[in-house]
Amino acid sequence: MLRWGLVSTANINDAVLGTTNPPADRFVAVGSRDLVRAQAYAQDKGIPRAHGSYEDLFADPDVDAVYVSLPNGMHTEWAIKALEAGKHVLCEKPFDRDPAAVARAFDVAEARGLVLAEAFMWRHHPQVDRAVQLLADGAIGNVRLLKASFSFVLDDPANVRLFRGLDGGSLMDVGCYCVSGLRTLAGAEPMRVQAERVDGGDGVDVRLVATLRFPGDVVATLDCGFDIAPRAELEAIGDGGTLKLLDPWHGTDPVIELRRAGGPEDRKFEGEPERIRVDAPDKYLLELEDFEAAVRGERPPRIGRDDAVAQATTIAALYRAADHAASTPESIP
Ligand SMILES: NC(=O)c1ccc[n+]([C@@H]2O[C@H](COP(=O)([O-])OP(=O)(O)OC[C@H]3O[C@@H](n4cnc5c(N)ncnc54)[C@H](OP(=O)(O)O)[C@@H]3O)[C@@H](O)[C@H]2O)c1
Repeated sequence: MLRWGLVSTANINDAVLGTTNPPADRFVAVGSRDLVRAQAYAQDKGIPRAHGSYEDLFADPDVDAVYVSLPNGMHTEWAIKALEAGKHVLCEKPFDRDPAAVARAFDVAEARGLVLAEAFMWRHHPQVDRAVQLLADGAIGNVRLLKASFSFVLDDPANVRLFRGLDGGSLMDVGCYCVSGLRTLAGAEPMRVQAERVDGGDGVDVRLVATLRFPGDVVATLDCGFDIAPRAELEAIGDGGTLKLLDPWHGTDPVIELRRAGGPEDRKFEGEPERIRVDAPDKYLLELEDFEAAVRGERPPRIGRDDAVAQATTIAALYRAADHAASTPESIP
């Protein structure tokens, strides 16, 4: 098994620590900005070694790979430093809002023969491949419309997600799942986007709504927010039916709901929708196993360069579109 180091004491670490019992079988070290915090964390989580800086973690010769769970705005800088120190890197989502920065990180990884991947756990869940296969098999006819939502109420003003300097914002935090979901179901990259944002916190988008145009006249809607009730939705609508993932992002209760319309003369829905139940394995474990297989040279990681750069390209376009809508509004008198 790969020997992993944790870059920070972030809350999300618990998800990956939970993949191994005891955690020390996979996670051998943690680095924090603060040595005392690193030591307390290591003791609490059962991690053998604690380092008082991320650089010290990267200098640890008994660490093969690191998991970057820093706030969004620090991902690329520290992923590159880890790569330069010779570590494979699994970087939390969203990698970066600047596609050129993501590409730079992959340049460093490729130059050193190291594995770099974006950690989008939802994509490792088997319900995703199942849904994509159903669409490819024509379960809902020709796909015409896609819809994705992810929101919750964030009341903690100190949360990293509300700070502009750390690249917070609802699109970066939860909307990035919607971007990934739409791109995955479309099986293509969007050609153009429009967006509206509502700001809060320290000047970040606390709500963002967008439309995306994909090749083949497929259109999509996306909405995300920190100030609306919790929702998690991903749906494809075709000329022959609808396909909805009822728990798309977490996949703890994964069901794909399929409604097929009648034949050409009668396009109505009849009866109850078909509910396809899918296994719910630990998606974080699948993510780590995917990465470890890539390090062993068995296959490229599921979310490698092209995917991560395309994801950041769409996020950047959505922010540009939202800024454009605010600066040159099509006002109604
Ligand atoms: N895939 C998923 O399911 C999932 C879920 C949640 C979050 N995430 C992603 O994981 C990342 C971390 O999210 P989180 O909610 O776990 O963050 P968090 O609990 O706030 O932790 C962030 C960590 O970064 C370090 N840090 C370094 N500089 C910092 C600064 N200026 N301000 C705050 N913290 C700083 C801190 O660790 P030290 O002080 O120990 O260095 C801190 O514990 C984000 O990119 C987020 O999008 C992914």
